[in-house]
Amino acid sequence: EKVERLKLVMLDGVPFLDLTQLNWEKVKNFHSLPDDLLIASYPKAGTTWVQEIVDMVLNDGDVDKCKRAPVYDRIPFLEIVEPKPLPSGLDQIANLTPPRVIKTHLPFQLVPNSFWEQNCKAIYIARNGKDNLVSYYHFDLMNKEQPDPGTWEQYILKFLEGNVAWGSWFDHVKSWWTGKDKHRILFLFYEDIKENPKREICKLSQFLGKDLSKDILDRIVHYTSFEVMKKNPMANYSTIPTFLFDNKVSPFMRKGQVGNWKEHFTIAQNEIFDEYYHRNLADTSLTFRFQM
Ligand code: PPS
Repeated sequence: EKVERLKLVMLDGVPFLDLTQLNWEKVKNFHSLPDDLLIASYPKAGTTWVQEIVDMVLNDGDVDKCKRAPVYDRIPFLEIVEPKPLPSGLDQIANLTPPRVIKTHLPFQLVPNSFWEQNCKAIYIARNGKDNLVSYYHFDLMNKEQPDPGTWEQYILKFLEGNVAWGSWFDHVKSWWTGKDKHRILFLFYEDIKENPKREICKLSQFLGKDLSKDILDRIVHYTSFEVMKKNPMANYSTIPTFLFDNKVSPFMRKGQVGNWKEHFTIAQNEIFDEYYHRNLADTSLTFRFQM
C-alpha cells in the first residue's frame, strides 16, 4: 500500500499536518475532565518514554496491565487525524474510561483552554534541540505520512526555521517553559531521565500523588529502559504496519541516546545551530544539556 505524505498547513500561526485541520475546531473546544492528565512534548522529545513511565506509575508497576494495548491506544494523541478508516485522537479519547491520560504535541498557547479551566495536571518533556532534530529527521524518513524531510542539509534549516509539523522547536519549549509557572505542570528533561531515571520517575510519581515502594520504582526503571522498551511490541510502535512506519529505513526506537547528534552534524552545521539557539533562547532562563 502506498501512503500519501501529508502537507503542512498553518493553523493559528503554527504548521501542522494538513489532516489536523479536520478536527481543529473540535480540538480547541475539547471538554477536559478535572482528572485528565496531559503528556505534552515537541515531537521526538521522549513522549513515548514518558507515556510508558506514566502508565506504569498509575498501574503500580503492573507490567502485564501496561501490555494491555499499544502505547498509542492506551494514551491517545489529542490532535491527530489519521486517514480513514483509522480513528482520530478525539475518537479514541471518547472511548477512554477516566482518569484519562492524553498525549499532545501542541505548543502551550494552543492547548485547549478547558484543561486549564479544569486545573488539570500536565507533564512536559523537553529534549535538547540537536538530538531532537536528528530524531525528527529519521522519523520523517520512516513515517510515510510525515512531509519528506529532504536532504539532511535541507532538513536542518527547515527545523531551525520551524517549517516542520508542530512548528519551531524553540517556540515550543519556550511556550511551555513560560506556561509551567501558571498551572500544575511538571517540566522534565530527556537528559535528566537518561542521567538518573529513578530520581526523575520518583519526581513524576510524587507529582501524580503516588507513593511507590522501592521495588516498584526499580521495576519501572527496568521496564522503561530503552533496551527493554525497544523489545516491547506494546511500546515500540512495531504494531504499526510497515507501509506507514518503515522500520527498515529507521526504527521508531532508534538510538535513545544523549549526544547522538555528534554523529550527524558537521562543525559548520553545529555552528549554525548554536547561532539559532543563542538567538532564540537568549531571553529565557531555559537551558539544555547537549551531552552528558
Ligand atoms: S513521538 O513520535 O513524537 O511520540 O516520538 P517520541 O516518543 O517523543 O520520541 C522518540 C525518541 O525517544 C526515544 N526513546 C527513548 N529514549 C530513551 N529511553 C527510552 N526508554 C526511550 N523510548 C523512546 C526514541 O528512541 C526516539 O529517539 P531517537 O534519538 O530517535 O532514538
